[in-house]
Amino acid sequence: MSTIESSPTAAGAGANASENFKATAGTRDVADTPPERVAAIVTSVLKGVHDAIAAHDVSYPEFQAAKAWLMAVGEGGEWPLFMDVFVEHAVEAQVATSQRGTKGSILGPYYLPDQVRLSATCRLPRRDDEQGLPLVLAGQVRDIDGTPLAGAEVDLWQADADGYYSGFAPHLPEGNLRGVIVTDDEGRYEIDTIQPAPYQIPTDGPTGQLIEAAGWHPWRPAHLHIQVRAAGHRPVTTQLYFAGGEWLDSDVAEATKPELIIDPTDDGNGNRRGVYDFELEPQPGS
Ligand code: DHB
Ligand code: FE
Repeated sequence: MSTIESSPTAAGAGANASENFKATAGTRDVADTPPERVAAIVTSVLKGVHDAIAAHDVSYPEFQAAKAWLMAVGEGGEWPLFMDVFVEHAVEAQVATSQRGTKGSILGPYYLPDQVRLSATCRLPRRDDEQGLPLVLAGQVRDIDGTPLAGAEVDLWQADADGYYSGFAPHLPEGNLRGVIVTDDEGRYEIDTIQPAPYQIPTDGPTGQLIEAAGWHPWRPAHLHIQVRAAGHRPVTTQLYFAGGEWLDSDVAEATKPELIIDPTDDGNGNRRGVYDFELEPQPGS
């Protein structure tokens, strides 16, 4: 991570997301896809493009503008941002058709592996002057048959109260608002953190330009990213959202699901508590 330049601008976040992707997921998950399948998928994608050109009577200037935009996305390192906002939800929905237990959601471009391990009741690493509404997230990790899963890992990463992620913004300390919480003997966890802000796709790069040119908005509702892992179980990558939150019904990344919305209680003394239990299915074939 140390070679990665950090900035909350599109160029910075995009370059960082590209570097991170190449360093992690990109090398781990390369698909071994046979030629017939490559041909079938790519033919189908290209047919969608060709059909759109015919349907909308696309002109040469529009074709050249599209080429220039694609080049800018690459040069700005924004492909991970673009793919995760506009495409990943469809892949996740497809994979979800075979997964039981807690509903999944997109991973997004800002996951970082190997964060600090914390005991079941803990405070997520934060700055001394971290802003934001206090929030405790608590619950239990279970097998889909109800068995509590002790020693499960609740890997949590989130934006701060300004909507920025550590590791991708220069002003944030490494590891801020990230951690791997290990559940106790009863599979329980309780995490002291702050409420994240809604996230805005960087508006100063080509993805932002497209959003503006199309008259869309660049917002995702406030969310917590969580990946839950337990020995012998299929991991789930998901996100939790907040009842009543802005942009819940128009997430630019189309990654919300009604089952993933929590409604934290407030005791009036600034103590807000959200509860969420995770259920993992046994690893297929185990
Ligand atoms: C993007 C950012 C996120 O925080 C997220 O959860 C999904 C996508 C993005 O900028 O691509
Ligand atoms: Fe996010």
